[in-house]
Amino acid sequence: MTKHLLSIDDVSAEEIQQLFATAAEMHDVQKREVKKLPALRGRTVINLFFEDSTRTRSSFEIAGKWLSADVINLSAKGSSASKGESLRDTVLTVTAMGVDGLVMRHSASGAAHQVAGWLDIPVINAGDGMHEHPTQALLDGYTLQRQLGGPGSLEGKRIAIVGDLTHSRVFRSNVKSLIKLGASVTAVAPPTLMPSGITEWAKADGFATSYSLDDVLPEVDAVMMLRVQRERMSGGYFPTSREYTVGYGLTRQRLAMLREGAPILHPGPMNRGLEISPEAADAASSRILDQVSAGVAIRMSVLYHLLAGEESA
Ligand code: NCD
Repeated sequence: MTKHLLSIDDVSAEEIQQLFATAAEMHDVQKREVKKLPALRGRTVINLFFEDSTRTRSSFEIAGKWLSADVINLSAKGSSASKGESLRDTVLTVTAMGVDGLVMRHSASGAAHQVAGWLDIPVINAGDGMHEHPTQALLDGYTLQRQLGGPGSLEGKRIAIVGDLTHSRVFRSNVKSLIKLGASVTAVAPPTLMPSGITEWAKADGFATSYSLDDVLPEVDAVMMLRVQRERMSGGYFPTSREYTVGYGLTRQRLAMLREGAPILHPGPMNRGLEISPEAADAASSRILDQVSAGVAIRMSVLYHLLAGEESA
């Protein structure tokens, strides 16, 4: 298994299945009254978040705690990063305290890679700018695979990833991971929210692109809706919210175009009424809360494989 998890490039298809198999065991822990495993007893994990987060940070925190690790949360607001300390000094300072693993989120693409080069403890990328968010893609793949029939079930399945692709690290990690799992991916967005150079990239990596959600929806086995990331936008990417919803929202009307039971995913946080309607978010086929619960299991699995490694396996 990889030392760091910075990108989906760090894990092979077999390793992804190995992470999923451990996650499935960890998932059962959630149903217990006493949710503790001793695997990381005596280890310390730091969650260093330079960007806002609700679910990813709490998910890593719960995952570490259920494995009996000591988990410390640090955010940029309230840390010396806001006093002008460099990223290198911040991470060297916190890790000098005897930390065994670092989970980090940063607004700069490539930040986790850079930090991994400065440290000899495992670094897990919890989102770097518009680049990657590997544990999100793993929990999405895990959720889909369970829904579609277990190991191997993503082979040949068509998955649409829809929305603000330009700004989405979830998209970039998911494309790689779903392709490794054998799925056939179609990326759907308005022209202004398609990453530049996507045509060559899609050709090289083997996925499809489309500007028409209406054409794609009836053909897919599952759909992943992504948030419109206004905080990363500096201009007008679409005329009005209403127009975005009309063209690219998973509206109540569009729900009927999906195959019966086709899972609906969204990594959260959702803009209800913009990219996803309440009817879709709360539909019987919505797997959005399953994604959240899978998130803890996947992060337990990742922490276990990277921190406990061979010794306790
Ligand atoms: C995503 C992220 O932060 O990249 N959220 C998450 O981790 N659940 C997607 C988003 O912010 O839209």
